[in-house]
Amino acid sequence: MPKCVIDGREVEFSPGENLIEVAKKVGVEIPYFCYHPGLSVVAQCRMCAVEVEKMPKLQTACSTVATDGMVVKTRSERALANQKSVMEFLLINHPLDCPICDQAGECDLQDYSYEYGSPYSRYTEERRTFLDLDMGPVIVKNMNRCIHCTRCIRLGAEVLGIREMVATQRGNKTEIATIDGRPLETDYAGNYADICPVGSLLLKDFRFKKRVWFLKKTATVCEGCARGCNMDIQHDANVIYRCTPRENLEVNQYWLCDEGRFNFHYVHDADRIMEPAVRADGELKMTEFGASLDAARAALKGKKAAVLLGTDLTQEEAKLLQEFLPKYLPNASVFHFGTPGIVSEADDAPADKILKRKSKTSNLHGFEKLGFKGLKTLPTGLDAALVIRGGRATLPELKGLSTVGIGVFTREEAATFSVVLPGLTFAEKDGTIVNFQGREQHIRRAIFPAGNCKALSEILAMWAHGTGGNA
Ligand code: SF4
Ligand code: SF4
Ligand code: FES
Repeated sequence: MPKCVIDGREVEFSPGENLIEVAKKVGVEIPYFCYHPGLSVVAQCRMCAVEVEKMPKLQTACSTVATDGMVVKTRSERALANQKSVMEFLLINHPLDCPICDQAGECDLQDYSYEYGSPYSRYTEERRTFLDLDMGPVIVKNMNRCIHCTRCIRLGAEVLGIREMVATQRGNKTEIATIDGRPLETDYAGNYADICPVGSLLLKDFRFKKRVWFLKKTATVCEGCARGCNMDIQHDANVIYRCTPRENLEVNQYWLCDEGRFNFHYVHDADRIMEPAVRADGELKMTEFGASLDAARAALKGKKAAVLLGTDLTQEEAKLLQEFLPKYLPNASVFHFGTPGIVSEADDAPADKILKRKSKTSNLHGFEKLGFKGLKTLPTGLDAALVIRGGRATLPELKGLSTVGIGVFTREEAATFSVVLPGLTFAEKDGTIVNFQGREQHIRRAIFPAGNCKALSEILAMWAHGTGGNA
């Protein structure tokens, strides 16, 4: 492998790698703003300029490919002077509003200002100012903070397949905008907030909710479709505040769709059933687990029943059911369900040109691997159903059946159920799911279960041991 020397450290690299990426391998951080590994290189912020031996001028590390024998100095006098002057230039207009900016704590400009900036400003002119602007349901724009890195423009044009962000005007008046001020159209708008290196494009959903340094990250996988994008759930004190993409070049690169990003809200939804409930006098009434287990057993005893399993359950849960069902409901017919019109993995396909899949549940491919069959139509002559699901699978039409539900349901969804035993969402449990590529990935518990919700394994164990009264 070819080698070069960065700040006196010899490093091997693969042909084609730029100096920013090569420097990272030996722990040398070259500051940058406009570079993003998922976008084209434009080398326009000049923050990453470094000294390369035998080259008279400073070279931008983002656009300079390492070559064998190259000697690079990232902290030479000239490189440091350049960083300082770029910072002074960018801070001419940037407001000192870090205390009220959501990006504070994860802002490249703030970090570099501390490391490379000057504590004094020589600027005496009036700063340009803009009003905050709504860019549709996902993003709010604060143009005062923009450093014109154009990442957002490139993201739309190169990744999202939509040229909706443009730079209007020139020089000091440059403004990032949509054409005619139209709301953003993409289903992937949250990524604009992720790639903006400053607090210029922010998520409306997260704005002013939490300072980022209080958040803990749990590395997990999105359950929004069969792709299984890698992401972090960010939470504090048992509350989820946001989900952000986690790099996985083979699955989702650096991105998330908005549906997956904001899917977590149902975890804390006041409409979610978080206590066991049994129907009495036409209404679902909260009760104890024991009483509801008794009612569930009674509702299914001696009935011709179907067991419907959401493909939003994990492999561990599915395998447990493969052991449980033949023993405790031996005559029931068992099917998986999840997305209307998607009966087997052969029906799953890309839903767009970016990430989304047609299967709107995370583990359709895992269920098929285990040999479960998809539900086309319910068998005739049924008089009861047991539905077990994680929270995403779309419930089939079950009118007229005495239905027991285990898992995550809203009050509206459970309106016709006889019994509900509340289970855990993807954010409250650990488990394995299999994506459309056949890749096993792991969801991880980020928060403790809400209310009196229990793991499926615990509910089935109570069922098997007759907990709550008569077995
Ligand atoms: S809005 Fe953000 S991403 Fe877009 S050009 Fe400005 S600083 Fe860069
Ligand atoms: S593409 Fe699918 S897995 Fe990825 S973020 Fe969207 S819903 Fe989640
Ligand atoms: S990151 Fe290299 S010029 Fe902007």
